[in-house]
Amino acid sequence: MTTGFTVEQLRAAVTDAVRAPSLHNTQPWRFRLHDGGIELSVDPLRRLPATDPSGWGARIACGAALFNLRLALAVAGTPATVRLRPYPADPNVVARLVPDVPRRPTPTEQSLYAAIGHRFSNRAPFWPDPVPAEARWRLGEAARAEHCWLELLIGTSAVNAFAEITRSAHRVLERDPAYVAERAAWIRSEPAPDGVPTTAAGPQGEPQDLLPQRGFGGRDRAPGRDFEPEPLVAVLGSPGNTSADQVVAGQALQRVLLAATDAGLSVSMISQPIEVSGAREALRLSLGRFGTPQMGLRIGYGQPGRPTPRRSVDEVLDVPMPQP
Ligand SMILES: Cc1cc2nc3c(=O)[nH]c(=O)nc-3n(C[C@H](O)[C@H](O)[C@H](O)COP(=O)(O)O)c2cc1C
Repeated sequence: MTTGFTVEQLRAAVTDAVRAPSLHNTQPWRFRLHDGGIELSVDPLRRLPATDPSGWGARIACGAALFNLRLALAVAGTPATVRLRPYPADPNVVARLVPDVPRRPTPTEQSLYAAIGHRFSNRAPFWPDPVPAEARWRLGEAARAEHCWLELLIGTSAVNAFAEITRSAHRVLERDPAYVAERAAWIRSEPAPDGVPTTAAGPQGEPQDLLPQRGFGGRDRAPGRDFEPEPLVAVLGSPGNTSADQVVAGQALQRVLLAATDAGLSVSMISQPIEVSGAREALRLSLGRFGTPQMGLRIGYGQPGRPTPRRSVDEVLDVPMPQP
């Protein structure tokens, strides 16, 4: 057992951690080395007060970054033991990682790790090809491995119920000028280290769309370029809904996204029905499951795309100044 992580190990793992998804690509995380442990905190300066008043989205994003951090350390041969919310007096600290017994990475860790750099949110229409049973099973398994569940909506009525709840949540959100202004402030039409590039936006929504897309300034749709008629829609959920449960859900989300990438699948996230509390409850009831829905996912075979930018590692590290 090693005594603590080094700054070099921290820097290498954070390079992978920041590839995690976040609401509007705000990247609401900070990392530091403290008493030999790596600590991951929510960055309060990068919260979205109108879109994410409770901090749910920031905790999901930090959970996703935590999963990448765990994977990166494990693949480097230095897996970590994780304590969530280690300091009750400082709820911004999401997790503390200390070195566990060194071991070889498992094949699953290696293949999930290899997917980190290829994953991106694909908001374009997918091909109509169905997702095979084996891949569906792997996605569910990825959620279960992180103590969450993934409900794949089977049949028209389940998908229509999700779509109806999502459309109504979308309407509620779009009526809020602060929400609309906040989203507009994170759309990037020029190269930038954060925010959502217009090149990553889906095509403009149309009235016939089953699922409303969050608008990030995408282009008008060419005639006939509609979305896939029978999308595979899934809902990721966690047993509870405390702050720690949301960090757990973020880890499960990232594991599902990486498993999908590894299986050659594309995913886009649909969180409107999670962000509006009435819609979230309606979704929970429609699924008939214990626990709390934490994310909606559209999964399928997509056209190629590319990962979106991130801030540099130096911008998210709190490294103590060397003593003179
Ligand atoms: C909590 C959370 C909620 C999100 N909600 C949506 C959403 O409703 N619609 C959407 O298109 N993308 C959504 N995203 C995806 C982010 O916009 C995306 O992760 C970010 O722009 C970075 O891009 P990338 O996923 O390609 O790395 C969400 C991501 C997170 C973590």
